[in-house]
Amino acid sequence: MSTGIVMALVMNLLHLLFLAVLVHSDQNMAPLRSFKISENVTYDCLDIYKQPGLDHPLLKNHTIQMKPSVSRPELNNQFGKNKTYKKKMGCPDGTIPILRSSEEYISNAKNFAEKYFHPLSSDSPGTHIAGVRSSNGSYRGILAWFDGFPLNIERDQASYSQVYIGSGLDNQVNFIQTGYMINPGVFGDGRLWTYGFWKGKDGKGCYNTACPGFVQVSRDVPIGKPAGPGVPDWTRCSIHQDKGTGNWWLTQQVSDKAYIDIGYWPKELFNLISNGANMVGVGGVVQASHSGPSPPMGNGNFPNGDRMGSAIIINIDVLDSNYEQRRMDSFPIEKLVDSPNCYGLGIGKVKPFHRTHLGFFFNYGGPGGNSCGV
Ligand SMILES: *[C@@H]1O[C@H](CO)[C@@H](O)[C@H](O)[C@H]1NC(C)=O
Ligand SMILES: *[C@@H]1O[C@H](CO)[C@@H](O)[C@H](O)[C@H]1NC(C)=O
Ligand SMILES: *[C@@H]1O[C@H](CO)[C@@H](O)[C@H](O)[C@H]1NC(C)=O
Ligand SMILES: *[C@@H]1O[C@H](CO)[C@@H](O)[C@H](O)[C@H]1NC(C)=O
Repeated sequence: MSTGIVMALVMNLLHLLFLAVLVHSDQNMAPLRSFKISENVTYDCLDIYKQPGLDHPLLKNHTIQMKPSVSRPELNNQFGKNKTYKKKMGCPDGTIPILRSSEEYISNAKNFAEKYFHPLSSDSPGTHIAGVRSSNGSYRGILAWFDGFPLNIERDQASYSQVYIGSGLDNQVNFIQTGYMINPGVFGDGRLWTYGFWKGKDGKGCYNTACPGFVQVSRDVPIGKPAGPGVPDWTRCSIHQDKGTGNWWLTQQVSDKAYIDIGYWPKELFNLISNGANMVGVGGVVQASHSGPSPPMGNGNFPNGDRMGSAIIINIDVLDSNYEQRRMDSFPIEKLVDSPNCYGLGIGKVKPFHRTHLGFFFNYGGPGGNSCGV
């Protein structure tokens, strides 16, 4: 299929952009490798046992889980079968890539996390959604394929596509989300970034490795990285709970790569999702400017019945309470569209005699604008 070819090209370009640089640190430290992707984006290979994620007070006694204890959800479609990850960048054994973070990035990421939308409180001003959610269950995970598009986003706007799991009780929430985000106010550029976000029992939320909590285990693929410039990107993201440990894994497959276990959010961080999450969801979200205008979502087009005309999320599966992988629409789903003037949702319809590999899917998105409401 042609997107596969396009993506292979894109990923090759991305690899070329990674310039491996050897940095010699002082005295006894082994040389550590860094990858500079662009002017303000550098990853340092740090000792996996000394990574900043472990500095969280709840992780004092944490033992790193090097890989999921039970085999992860199988890929049951044609994408990525038998693919091996071509290692063109990667940290040396025993080290993992961590984004070199400026104070500015850390404080911007914290501000955004505190001020804006999260999946269990949709009333944050200027936030709009077009997606699908299943509540009232006990879910061990969610996975979906989605595309991300380059969009023109103002400095105080954000536009993202995500999958999430979470639970709420009284005034507390726990959740984890991952996907693509364009958020110049946080990332410092208008590119599409993959990201992960969590909110745990201390009530705090955090993006990527901007504060402690996430444990990176992949030597090759960091949580949070920019996509190649000016082109759509595809990824399959999954968040799933480990059957043996209860930790929540982030797994990603990008175009020609194998399924990569990037790392996990340890169970110690949470109090409401120890035995699965009540809710799972997937879709697009935007954050409007303070001055009003809402940015585009998806690829900027409304769903119009043409599968390739607007952004699409396909093969949306969940893991049920027994860790069985099932189509999301085998559970009751709610459609979430809060600003139909600006953003739409078109649940995929496939004629019964025309089965496809798309599974449960939908198109979503829209142009945004000045009259999206608050
Ligand atoms: C890098 O960061 C500096 C300081 O924040 C900024 O002035 C510059 O425009 C950034 N460069 C890119 C390519 O984003
Ligand atoms: C770590 O273990 C010690 C000794 O068992 C215990 O007192 C402490 O509460 C534990 N800390 C955390 C954050 O679990
Ligand atoms: C995957 O690899 C196995 C073992 O090498 C091989 O038998 C099988 O035919 C491959 N499947 C595909 C779809 O290429
Ligand atoms: C979940 O339960 C609440 C409260 O019982 C109900 O209002 C809501 O419609 C349910 N949602 C779904 C998707 O079944």
